[in-house]
Amino acid sequence: MFSIGIVTASDKGSRGEREDVSGRIIAEMLTELGTVKHYLIVPDEQNALSEAIVDMADKKQIDLILTTGGTGLGPRDVTPEATLAVIDRLVPGIPEAMRAKSLTITSRAMLSRAVAGMRGRTLIINLPGSPKGVKECLEVILPALEHGLAIMK
Ligand code: MTE
Repeated sequence: MFSIGIVTASDKGSRGEREDVSGRIIAEMLTELGTVKHYLIVPDEQNALSEAIVDMADKKQIDLILTTGGTGLGPRDVTPEATLAVIDRLVPGIPEAMRAKSLTITSRAMLSRAVAGMRGRTLIINLPGSPKGVKECLEVILPALEHGLAIMK
């Protein structure tokens, strides 16, 4: 079992104005892979998002951090930049797989700029913000995650 952190990037969610359905779906879908130890809703601000990722990776030694939201083309969509700023190594196959499968479902999948990478022994993966997007992307990557995380130990 791996330790899991969830970071929801949402201005409205961080103000308590929107229920975080996507965060809940991530937690539900990962019950067999590990335990959700930390869960944060952060406004769409690059520094705040980077700090949340660094805190979970370095201080809390979380194995897997899933972010949701902020990967699109909107002016406040900065989750990929916040992630790129703090990772040591890219894992491009993960977003490649998510986009490849998702494009068979919706052409809008090309609008997600999601990235994945490693910071030390923590794997960080961006997911889109919508509950539908989260579910579809997690279904694609879940079969490979256990092996990937085991190698990083
Ligand atoms: N991927 C899947 N599998 N399913 C979806 O419905 N939505 C797309 C895309 N990726 C979607 C998806 C849409 S409409 C957008 S705008 C981008 O993800 C970015 O979403 P975000 O800004 O909420 O992260």
